[in-house]
Amino acid sequence: MTLFNFSAGPAALPRPVRERLADALRSDARGTPSVAEISHRGPRFAAIADELITRLRSLSGVGEAHEILLLHGGANLQFAWLPMNLAAQGTAAYVLTGHWGEKALAEAKRVGRAEAVAGSAENGYVDLPTLGLLPADCAYLHYTGNETIHGVQYPAPPDVDVPLAADLSSEFLSRPYPYSDLGFAYAGAQKNLGIAGLTVVLVRRDLLDRIPEALPKYLDYRSWANSGSMYNTPCTLAWYVALEVLRWIERMGGLAVLGQRNSARAGRLYAAIDASDFWSNPVAQRCRSVMNVPFFPADERLTMPAVAAAEDAGLMGLKGHRALGGLRASLYNALDDDAVENLIDFLGEFERTRA
Ligand SMILES: Cc1ncc(COP(=O)(O)O)c(C=O)c1O
Repeated sequence: MTLFNFSAGPAALPRPVRERLADALRSDARGTPSVAEISHRGPRFAAIADELITRLRSLSGVGEAHEILLLHGGANLQFAWLPMNLAAQGTAAYVLTGHWGEKALAEAKRVGRAEAVAGSAENGYVDLPTLGLLPADCAYLHYTGNETIHGVQYPAPPDVDVPLAADLSSEFLSRPYPYSDLGFAYAGAQKNLGIAGLTVVLVRRDLLDRIPEALPKYLDYRSWANSGSMYNTPCTLAWYVALEVLRWIERMGGLAVLGQRNSARAGRLYAAIDASDFWSNPVAQRCRSVMNVPFFPADERLTMPAVAAAEDAGLMGLKGHRALGGLRASLYNALDDDAVENLIDFLGEFERTRA
């Protein structure tokens, strides 16, 4: 039986990338060092790093006005790192559309002035809020492009006249996106760009002038911009996997092709859920996530039996996040189309036999 991996992250790798990774790590008779066993300062790794940045630039469309930084620490570290660097002299504004935005704001408040200017908590995070007034000294507006747990996605970045700072963890490189309009963006690699350990940051160069002088060097974005993201030893294997994923995206036809495919298949899943009397998704149509689809059985007690039955049918990783319950299908780039069709069949079958 074929297994399909709907995990929210770390998530499925494209099959050819998995094979390349296995080949890259296999020992040969001579004991040639693998990509995980060489210096990041040597020519072999330098070629990987160069190609990785070049491909990230061409796919995201961000030019030389932005730095692309390859960091450690995940999105969680960016929750504090960003305001420490870019909001030292102003107020950081946050729009909250789910769990991750709340966490980002809580961290920003620990390091400086930060406030929520809009949020949809009172309706259970099922729609996008209307933006309120921004503070007069607004350093940036932070939004979560795609709330991975609540399944709420901005179709396009909010329209404001301050720099935008976006948590794009679970949608980076899933569709064409106006990355160059953003002041700042960050995403962990473990959803659409390979394996955990690498965090990609895009930052507009002029914003680096705002960084206070007294920060620890490690926590100053300029240390990374000035060292080709090698201020300390990079997570070399994650960089290598990211490069293989970018080559795969290109072979697949690029972001326009992936974006169309992703939205078509998410549309098929939402249509099946909406047509059902048993399964439901509460999120407003205009901001339903193309990447993460939470859904609920009419009888909450059937959640865990459904997860177990799905696993028996080869559909893995469908348990919802503990903060929300229910089930969740993550439909990242690497997932096969067959996975979604199998899930739709499973949902129909479960409804017929267990509802
Ligand atoms: C939107 C979003 N932000 C932040 C995070 C946290 O990421 P990390 O574990 O890389 O810190 C996640 C993880 O799933 C996420 O989906």
